[in-house]
Amino acid sequence: MTTLRVPRHALLAHKLTQLRRRETPSSAFRRLLAEIGAILTSEALRDLPEARTPIETPLAPMRAPALAGPEPCLVAVLRAGLGLLEGAQRILPEAPVGHLGMVRDERTLQPSEYVARLPPGLPQRGVLLLDPMLATGGSAIAAVARLKAAGAQTIRFACVVAAPEGAARFAAAHPDVRVLAAALDERLDERGYIVPGLGDAGDRCFGTE
Ligand code: PRP
Ligand code: URA
Repeated sequence: MTTLRVPRHALLAHKLTQLRRRETPSSAFRRLLAEIGAILTSEALRDLPEARTPIETPLAPMRAPALAGPEPCLVAVLRAGLGLLEGAQRILPEAPVGHLGMVRDERTLQPSEYVARLPPGLPQRGVLLLDPMLATGGSAIAAVARLKAAGAQTIRFACVVAAPEGAARFAAAHPDVRVLAAALDERLDERGYIVPGLGDAGDRCFGTE
């Protein structure tokens, strides 16, 4: 069972390769994560409902397509989701933003929440959840449970690298949530890191390795 989609997108794949490289410094890592965030946001939301609206171009009136509803809320899982959020906000500048602070215990691999600040309007707008890594799936599963408890009904999840183990666990826990990933990698290692992956996304983003 999977709800995961990996789009074929040459630019996305190219940027992810740069992101994965061991020698990519923190500054370039953040820039690439933001660029990938913009591409993933556009892919994840490509089927938002549209409606025709009357406009005038300099040459003629027309009925042109526009979003039928308000922009969805963006919710970043701290810390590394902040990197994706920067790019997502470039293409959805008016979207309300929420923050969920989650950290994984390095020994047990269990996530715990240390902050939650969610905007109103989750039930009406829907949510795009952003976190670059879907490893064991624990953090994403807990984040989505938190969004559902706050009333969110339509939730999409965009990540950069997913592990098969996490994708399967997530699909079993939240079969109603569509997941978009830039890549589905091979496996988890014994420490719960994605292989080949890109290392610790939060540390690489904020220079805390
Ligand atoms: C990373 C990542 C996810 C989580 C994925 O965050 O950004 O939130 O691990 O792992 P999981 O699927 O096994 O739960 P981390 O806990 O390292 O926090 P950080 O972003 O602050 O470094
Ligand atoms: N969190 C990360 O940042 N990277 C991994 O590979 C797994 C969890």
